[in-house]
Amino acid sequence: MAAIGIDYGTSNSEVVYFDGQQHQFIKLDPSLEAANKIRSSVFIYYKDELPRPPIPMIEAKIAQLKRAISDKIEKAKEGYYQASDPKEQRIHSARIDELRAEYHNLPALQERAIELLLEDMTVQDLPLHQLVATGEFAFGEEGFKRYLKMPEKGRLIYSPKNFLGANLVSGQQEAFVGLIAKQLAFFRESAELQIGETVDSAVIGRPVRFHGTRGKEGNSQAIEIMTQAAKAAGFTKVEFLEEPIAAAYKIERTLDRHTNVLVVDIGGGTTDICCIKLSPEKLANLDRQLDVMSVTGTRLGGMECDKNLITKSIAVTMGHGMLMRNGLPVPPAYYSDMCAVDDIPKLNRFFSEDYWLDIANTKSLVKEPKLLERLQVVQEEKLSARLVNSSRLAKELLSSKDEIILPLHYIEADYDVKLNVDELKRSMQSWLTRVKSLVTECLKNSAEAPEMLFITGGMSLSPIVKKELLELLPGLPVMEGDAFNSVCEGLGIQAAKFK
Ligand SMILES: Nc1ncnc2c1ncn2[C@@H]1O[C@H](COP(=O)(O)OP(=O)(O)OP(=O)(O)O)[C@@H](O)[C@H]1O
Ligand SMILES: [Mg+2]
Repeated sequence: MAAIGIDYGTSNSEVVYFDGQQHQFIKLDPSLEAANKIRSSVFIYYKDELPRPPIPMIEAKIAQLKRAISDKIEKAKEGYYQASDPKEQRIHSARIDELRAEYHNLPALQERAIELLLEDMTVQDLPLHQLVATGEFAFGEEGFKRYLKMPEKGRLIYSPKNFLGANLVSGQQEAFVGLIAKQLAFFRESAELQIGETVDSAVIGRPVRFHGTRGKEGNSQAIEIMTQAAKAAGFTKVEFLEEPIAAAYKIERTLDRHTNVLVVDIGGGTTDICCIKLSPEKLANLDRQLDVMSVTGTRLGGMECDKNLITKSIAVTMGHGMLMRNGLPVPPAYYSDMCAVDDIPKLNRFFSEDYWLDIANTKSLVKEPKLLERLQVVQEEKLSARLVNSSRLAKELLSSKDEIILPLHYIEADYDVKLNVDELKRSMQSWLTRVKSLVTECLKNSAEAPEMLFITGGMSLSPIVKKELLELLPGLPVMEGDAFNSVCEGLGIQAAKFK
């Protein structure tokens, strides 16, 4: 029996098996040749027809059909009373009997109701739990490609982890348990296949605070969902470890003496920081909580930067800031709603017909309706996730280039947006201020000062982020390390202690 480390990230996930000597990364995505990670997004879709609509929808449709039959019965009764001869009366009477039989024939009504509902139902009308229970799953790049090719056939959950601490309405919690169970089962089976052993235990990384506005309650909900999902995925033993502490366990193996280290992990969904006493002599110790001098984290990740780059730069080319005839600007909420890929109710509202009408109305009130047409295409064709993903790519490219041209041809032919590093930096300002105050908070709570800095997580690859952190912590030596693998390798190290 083996135990693995699972870094279930907002943007990417990784799985590592540590045999006490070496780390073995589990290959999760066959379409990414060199990489160990997999996109955390999931596309749930239907190859052919949609499943049966949900029961309340069928019941409402049956009630509607029954009302229509009742009206017909009333009309036939009128005809019966107004009939001028017995022959005509018999015709009406037979019609009434026929309609009454129709009214009471529940199986036939049900069939008709389903038929009618399916005629104009889309995947978006299905509640998430039904989608999870009946749809097909596609993970990683394959899922994202399917979504790009046929978005109307399914639903892309861009970052399931982002929802775990959020306010979930009835049925959604079960839906996320089901969805994540499928991902974790896939990870477990991939690990078994690669290491040739049964995998029954895991140490799963967790942010200090899950993305969401519900504080403690949100965190317990997230852990509860992950625990249930892991059980359903076939794990019999599961532990959680804060992500920055996991990263610390990995770098501890590279130290030759006792060192206080400040670990800053800036990922796609959250920033997590800890100040911890590390030492080669403590490698084998099971419980390390006493060595953690302070730990903090919040929902400040790269995805927020992607959205800010849209609302602060890209959206200008979609009419953001334009004035209407009454002198007021086009509602700025259009653009934040457009980017709400981590808020299902908000995004569904954005995709609704009413919202389309609202934009259409605004379009008639501006000088350059063409710009708003781009917003309307994103709305109509449900391209929000694709646009946020383009913005992510732009942000990543601007880590190595000063200026780029971002093609958005899926919105409009020849629609290119020029972006430069200064614009990106401006759009990141408020985010950077919050990241820095989180670092300061962690330092304030730590009993001893750090002697080394370790920055990890995908956002640590941004020169803008790196520069700001180094300026905040002048003179603190920086440890070189990996931006993506440290957390997972640390989780693998912790998992190996299970035996
Ligand atoms: N070269 C780069 N320059 C800037 N940002 C980058 C670069 N490469 C990746 N990123 C960003 O890093 C983020 C993903 O980082 P990472 O994989 O560490 O997150 P995660 O572990 O999935 O999320 P979390 O730990 O918050 O749950 C994304 O926002 C991505 O755009
Ligand atoms: Mg991470």
